[in-house]
Amino acid sequence: MVSIISIKSKKLSGEIFVPGDKSISHRALILGSCGIGETSIENLLESEDVLATMNALKSLGVNIKRRNSFWYVQGNGLGSLKSPNKVLYLGNSGTGVRLLMGLVSGCDITASFNGDESLNKRPMKRILTPLEQSGTQIISNEDKLPITINGSKIPIPIKYETSLSSAQVKSCVLLNGLTSTGNTIYLEPIKSRDHTERMLNYMGAKIFCKTHKNGSNKIELKGLPNLQGKHFNVPNDPSSAAFPLAAALLIPNSEITIKNVCINELRIGFYDSIKEMGGNVKFINKQNICGDTTADIKVKYSKLKGISVSPKRVPTMIDEFPIFCIVSCFADGKTTMNGIQDLRNKESDRIKEMVNNLKKFGFNISSSLDSITIIGNKNIDLSKEIIIDSKFDHRIAMSFLCLGFLMNKGVKVVNAETINTSFPNFYKTMETLGAKFKK
Ligand code: S3P
Repeated sequence: MVSIISIKSKKLSGEIFVPGDKSISHRALILGSCGIGETSIENLLESEDVLATMNALKSLGVNIKRRNSFWYVQGNGLGSLKSPNKVLYLGNSGTGVRLLMGLVSGCDITASFNGDESLNKRPMKRILTPLEQSGTQIISNEDKLPITINGSKIPIPIKYETSLSSAQVKSCVLLNGLTSTGNTIYLEPIKSRDHTERMLNYMGAKIFCKTHKNGSNKIELKGLPNLQGKHFNVPNDPSSAAFPLAAALLIPNSEITIKNVCINELRIGFYDSIKEMGGNVKFINKQNICGDTTADIKVKYSKLKGISVSPKRVPTMIDEFPIFCIVSCFADGKTTMNGIQDLRNKESDRIKEMVNNLKKFGFNISSSLDSITIIGNKNIDLSKEIIIDSKFDHRIAMSFLCLGFLMNKGVKVVNAETINTSFPNFYKTMETLGAKFKK
């Protein structure tokens, strides 16, 4: 068990790089394994979650190697995976396990999946239902891990409509549909992150998307595409960038730049919300990398006002609510977040953890099943000594460490090793900017 204490820090300044995007890194490895020929990956996130996906793919017979700073995946084409001779352990990674179950279900193999304490509590019915429709045989522990998937060589093409907006479910269904002979159709109520669709398209798949005025989205994937190995240059992760950005917004006189961050419009709801609150955040040096837009993000300490986040924006900032709660505590007036029920199914129940932990500091925060309300208070007593248990949730850990930079006696986070699942250089990166830790 690793405990870290973040302590009161003076203004942050300088330029940093956060690591490569987690969602894109998982997909580059998984899709690379489906292509014909070599896929090379630049700036892959080498965190525990992504390495768990990589190890699982290796156990499924995929050859993946690092040469210098690039990773190379030798793709053998669709349906080429082999039954592993051990249980695939995906650690803490919901993305890894859900996407891989989709991939395996479209191959004529059997594989068993397991995870850590946090992952084994998370709901899997959301993917098991469509996979069963496609003909996959599944043995589960009441719709949770451990799960054994008995894939089908030629899955039945399905049309799947869901009321949940989830890129993990969407990607699982699309990966399953790759080896089907017909068209897979997926309908989601609000468009979720579209990395799978973009990357499949880049590799040569015939995939069509139509987003309606009300935000709902339809995707149609033609089965058995001719996927070619490609080069992926992974942009830096906007979800990781949210932590230094929040710290800079809240620590007086700070001014920092975070370089080369993915600003895909389906990933920047947090940044839109911060701008709406009056935050001084600018995207500069925009570029196009492998079909996605990146920018350097410039942020200055700002006076913020409370806002209302509508359910429509939720999928575009789904991972940023813990750190958004911290920021909202220092905004003038009320901030409300609605339509966030699925936060209860993340690495921890993030609504419960944010509410219970922020109350310890004396913040005015309340919740319902699917919402959080915070009344900001910049004059809170900053002299308390608070200990937070991460509950094996990296984003809970990093959010409270950022709050610690404002507290006179700091904040201690226990089980802080979970940060390695997504942001292995978190401490060093924050220290580069001037933030302080006691280890
Ligand atoms: C992810 C999708 C999101 C997000 C997760 C990564 C992905 O989950 O919370 O961290 O890479 O597809 P849901 O799709 O379940 O909302």
